[in-house]
Amino acid sequence: MKDVTVGVDGSPMSLAAVQWAADDAAHRGSWLRVVHVIDRSPYELTQSPELDAQLADAACRIMTEAEKTARERRPGLGMRLQSVEGRPADVLRRLADESAGLVLGSRGMGRTAGSILGSVSMQLAGHACGPVVIVRDRPRNRVGEVVIGLDETAECQRPISYAFEQASLHGSEVRALHAWTLPTHSYAPEITYDIESVRAGQRAVAAGQLAKHRKKYPTLPVFDDLRSAHPVEALVDASREADLVVVGSHGRGRAGSMVMGSVSRRVLRHARCPIAVVRPCAKH
Ligand SMILES: Nc1ncnc2c1ncn2[C@@H]1O[C@H](COP(=O)(O)OP(=O)(O)O)[C@@H](O)[C@H]1O
Ligand SMILES: [Mg+2]
Repeated sequence: MKDVTVGVDGSPMSLAAVQWAADDAAHRGSWLRVVHVIDRSPYELTQSPELDAQLADAACRIMTEAEKTARERRPGLGMRLQSVEGRPADVLRRLADESAGLVLGSRGMGRTAGSILGSVSMQLAGHACGPVVIVRDRPRNRVGEVVIGLDETAECQRPISYAFEQASLHGSEVRALHAWTLPTHSYAPEITYDIESVRAGQRAVAAGQLAKHRKKYPTLPVFDDLRSAHPVEALVDASREADLVVVGSHGRGRAGSMVMGSVSRRVLRHARCPIAVVRPCAKH
């Protein structure tokens, strides 16, 4: 069984990520792998034994604190602790590929003014092969709901699998949220829509996307939530009352495989609960 991996850098948000990851590993019955990447790149020009010792001390302190946080949260959980040298985003991306999930804080020790996501989490969400979960707060009381954001693309299938798996592991319900807006033809206002047939069409899209997952988890409660709203607004709104929101990394407006879709990016910025970004991946 694959480990749940969490990246720690000594920041409070990475400890919140440890708590989320410890819960997830406990529910899966898998190990928790706690990783701190020692990044020497800022110090490449100033190598010295003192600096080496300071970096090693810091890594040790960060790991001890992370281990304590995980033990308090889930005593008895199997844990692997790893300090690895390298570039944090590169090392964590490799580990994400072989994990049941990579869990990160939304921010870290760096303080890039004005941005809500840190550079490591931004480089990984939507760019690693496995699911990447971005956590911004200490776990709050469980609501018992996992939200999956649907669109009509095949890219949704892996995120849906992850959402159903999460709901099943945590004994939660799935809210399958499919937000849609009517195209506006300002140049041709005479075009009108039969709103009921549009709605029926959207319902059929959602049913089609979910069919095989419903079959796999026949007893899991799944609610369709079709909304005439912008997907970002709808998903951020749903995140207020959910334990997890799961999104894909691309949607309809796919700009190129290395660019995360605008919906996922904006949901990551504004959501009120942990967000899992699940990229379609040829290897899986
Ligand atoms: N050196 C590192 N080793 C392991 N995990 C890290 C490291 N740096 C960052 N992370 C993870 O990524 C999260 C976001 O940090 P980051 O993107 O670096 O934000 P910032 O730009 O604010 O430092 C952290 O909460 C932590 O989970
Ligand atoms: Mg950082």
